[in-house]
Amino acid sequence: MDRTFVMFKPDCLERGLVGRILSRFEEKGLRLVAMKMLRVTPALARQHYAEHVEKPFYHSLEEFITAAPVVATVFSGPEVIRVVRDMLGATSGLNALPGTIRGDHSSSRQMNLVHASDSLESAKREIGIYFTPSDMHDWDPALACWLQAPSEA
Ligand code: CMP
Repeated sequence: MDRTFVMFKPDCLERGLVGRILSRFEEKGLRLVAMKMLRVTPALARQHYAEHVEKPFYHSLEEFITAAPVVATVFSGPEVIRVVRDMLGATSGLNALPGTIRGDHSSSRQMNLVHASDSLESAKREIGIYFTPSDMHDWDPALACWLQAPSEA
């Protein structure tokens, strides 16, 4: 089963949307396997967003991501990296389709509520930044047999 890193950003907390959006992932049948609340420091922001540090929007991104706590999580599930990205929608809430999380709740490119890994490599890297192996709690939901047929596993 794949894992992905999902972070509920400061705008998500400030707007009281963490529970509602987390529920969407649970309702989809994804498994929450790790969760912690923390404040992203400027150093942590530079590590997480290393590929964006040289971009013109980075200063604003760092101010935003350090402005209030975040909730860092790991979800597992079949094709979970793509599935979560599809559920989020386009980076900008203005372009994200209705029915996606950003399409329903965001009108911003920066304040797009939730970050999720975009590949297997970035999922491994991002999970490793925020969690240790002992933070992971793999579990088998009793209802798993009603979420997928055995032939799909
Ligand atoms: P995320 O999926 O966390 O990855 C990088 C983040 O940078 C992105 O979501 C947005 O919050 C932010 N971002 C991306 N592009 C821009 C931009 N052009 N201007 C400001 N912020 C951006």
